[in-house]
Amino acid sequence: MKNRIAFGASLMCADYLNLERDIRLLEQNGIDYLHFDVMDGHFVPNFGLNLDLLKKAREITNLPINVHLMIDNAAEYIDDYMDAGCNSLSFHQEPTYHIQRLLQRIKARGIQAGIALNPATPLNTLEYILSDLDFVLIMTVNPGFAGQALVPATLEKISNLRTMLSEKGLNIDIQVDGNVSFENIPKMVNAGATMLVGGTSSLFMKNTALDESIRKIFALIY
Ligand code: DX5
Ligand code: ZN
Repeated sequence: MKNRIAFGASLMCADYLNLERDIRLLEQNGIDYLHFDVMDGHFVPNFGLNLDLLKKAREITNLPINVHLMIDNAAEYIDDYMDAGCNSLSFHQEPTYHIQRLLQRIKARGIQAGIALNPATPLNTLEYILSDLDFVLIMTVNPGFAGQALVPATLEKISNLRTMLSEKGLNIDIQVDGNVSFENIPKMVNAGATMLVGGTSSLFMKNTALDESIRKIFALIY
């Protein structure tokens, strides 16, 4: 397992009317990356951030941008998102026909490739793509909305995945997304997560300034 934990900010939980201000605060306070949620209203029952916003964000920040596609047809759209300048990209296992091909397309561009798994999706789907992956996104809530409670079985899933990777001598990052709260962060890290996504449960809390949330988070993970 990597020693350092990377903590990312879920941009869909930031203040949309003050997005640049929030991005600057995230930069100044040492956030490791931006997590950029794209939703199509079909694979998940909600709409998220879009390509135009990604291009705008890319223009104003050098923070790594991690795109999470929650869409039915990732094959049709990944090139646009890569062209827009993301640094890492994941798509979901559940609606995708040619997973290994897509992972290769991402890696061929020098972009970190990840596969995202819903809470109910078993780990054995990873068996024959491990060498194609830079990271696995374990959804710790069902994707689509901020503010949901952790699906408890996903903690065991993280630790089972870390064991599986260690047994094979692989150092692939495990990203967790959903209810990454002050209470859950230590449990997720102990289970083997190395890339966290902070949303409304820790980073973007009502009545707490971003710098204060970040200090509390970093005190837990470093
Ligand atoms: C979905 C999003 C949200 C977001 C939520 O992929 O990425 O799940 O992080 O953060 P919380 O659960 O803390 O509101
Ligand atoms: Zn996400």
